[in-house]
Amino acid sequence: MNVHSATALAHPNIAFIKYWGNRDDALRLPASGSISMNLDGLQTRTTVTFVPDLTTDTLTLDGLPAAGPALERVSAFLDLVRRMAGLERRAAVVSENNFPMGTGIASSASAFAALALAATRAAGLALSESELSRLARRGSGSACRSVPGGFVEWLPGTGDADSYAVSIAPPAHWDLADCIAVISREHKATGSARGSALAATSPLQAARLADAPRRLDLCRAALRGRDFEALAAVAELDSDMMHAVMMTSSPALFYWQPATLAVMQAVREARAGGLPVFYTVDAGPNVHVICEAARAEQTAEWLTRLPGVQAVMRARVGGPARLAGVS
Ligand code: PMV
Repeated sequence: MNVHSATALAHPNIAFIKYWGNRDDALRLPASGSISMNLDGLQTRTTVTFVPDLTTDTLTLDGLPAAGPALERVSAFLDLVRRMAGLERRAAVVSENNFPMGTGIASSASAFAALALAATRAAGLALSESELSRLARRGSGSACRSVPGGFVEWLPGTGDADSYAVSIAPPAHWDLADCIAVISREHKATGSARGSALAATSPLQAARLADAPRRLDLCRAALRGRDFEALAAVAELDSDMMHAVMMTSSPALFYWQPATLAVMQAVREARAGGLPVFYTVDAGPNVHVICEAARAEQTAEWLTRLPGVQAVMRARVGGPARLAGVS
């Protein structure tokens, strides 16, 4: 087989039980497990071509040539793939997102899941799902969860070999939707990789980690039993606990804007009033409002009318990272 170029697609994911903090930063071994769902409709499409006479890796992101830290991160990741494949060649990487980057809609998750699949195939490797998830983890922790489909759990593992994500239910298991209330489209000040390296400086992180197995159990059971109320309770608690850690780390990280909190409060009030919705917020100001897909239109319309909400993006439960072509 003489494959040099491959294109892969991957969805971002939204975590109900979040990843924030590593026990090993270099290998991105997480301090605790996490659970997410993939977001259908939002995607990264990445083509990797290993080119014989290229002297450095190149990266084109959403149509523009990228340099600096973004290229360095991709290049370091490609080094892992080159080492696995015994390859010297540099690569041209072309990546496109159909959603804004750096706003708490995890572009790094779909980016490194798509890159892991495209780069390994272009290098002539055919990895299993767990091997691919392990590799994607090295690019961005949450990327390991964008490799399998549907509802996904990242098993923290004991080391590099067993720290990967597995699907706990396919997309058809529960027709949920994520209505993303976009509060700001600006690039976030502190990216999640740098931010989460500060987690251990918060005195609250130890308590958050000690309670993680309980929250993971509650979330897994709520997903399996399609228990919306139970999922709402544990996901909001988990998101609030992560932000409490962020706000109390040194230096402190505040990802919320006033409109973020206003939407969170409106969601709690709406749920108390009978609308089955809950919120979860990543490392950015946007609020992910989860509901059953049958209610997505009503929920999105309601969110659009809230002050400070610039737009609402909608996604249902997405499938695994997949190959779109090899040549
Ligand atoms: O994998 P990273 O560096 O993009 O970190 C993701 C961190 C959160 O999105 C805030 C939580 C999560 O589990 O997705």
